[in-house]
Amino acid sequence: MTEFQDRVKPLLTGVPGWLTDEEGEALYELAKRCTGRGAIVEIGSWKGKSTICLGLGSRAGNGVRIVAIDPHTDYRFGDFKANVERAGIADLVTPVPSLSQDAANGFGEPIELLFVDGSHEEGDVRADFDQWVPKVVDGGWVAFHDTTWTVGPRRVVGERIYRSRRFKDIRFVVGSTTVARKVAQNSLADRLRARYVLALKTAFWLGSSMLKKQRRLLPKSLERIGRRVLRALQ
Ligand SMILES: C[S@@+](CC[C@H](N)C(=O)[O-])C[C@H]1O[C@@H](n2cnc3c(N)ncnc32)[C@H](O)[C@@H]1O
Repeated sequence: MTEFQDRVKPLLTGVPGWLTDEEGEALYELAKRCTGRGAIVEIGSWKGKSTICLGLGSRAGNGVRIVAIDPHTDYRFGDFKANVERAGIADLVTPVPSLSQDAANGFGEPIELLFVDGSHEEGDVRADFDQWVPKVVDGGWVAFHDTTWTVGPRRVVGERIYRSRRFKDIRFVVGSTTVARKVAQNSLADRLRARYVLALKTAFWLGSSMLKKQRRLLPKSLERIGRRVLRALQ
């Protein structure tokens, strides 16, 4: 059993959200590795599932604070706060009840880990990229959710991460997250790896879309093997 399954999964019980276990674990591990060179920023918190993964990772690591940006319209802010408190990470989390595009100008700190899962409209994702990624320190990490089926994030990360000279150690996490480390300049090997991961992500996306269209579900055991193979290939 991994640390995530042991310590985090039980605290996610009853918290709705779209993250797969692999994605939750990736956020947990990335936050745990943060050293404090910058804040952890989350765009799009909803009811706090990803915030909890980041917060517990940070707690297991160096206690880097999490700035959680979401306009939290209607009843959801209460649910978000209750879930974050129940997970025991409220002291690490600063909620910013705002659109990310409005919050960007007033945020002057460096960022060590940026998780983007806010508006999925292409223009908004581009604005998030333009406004927030420059604040990420070199050597810091970015993670974008919904980079397979959802056209906005998929296009933006395709252009600005997979085909960029500013990212290395790119990874696709099942079901839809792209993770990458920002650098001053990547190498040819990094760029080739990026294209390879992009091909794997595309194969996963098209393959699972086809199965969905035919309303076919893989047996759980086969699905598990597929996920393991995808991880091993990266
Ligand atoms: C898919 S949900 C986030 C899910 C969350 N990360 C989780 O793990 O459960 C998207 C969230 O983004 C928020 N959102 C939408 N547009 C936004 C914007 N422009 N800036 C910040 N947050 C936004 C919505 O209010 C919603 O709560």
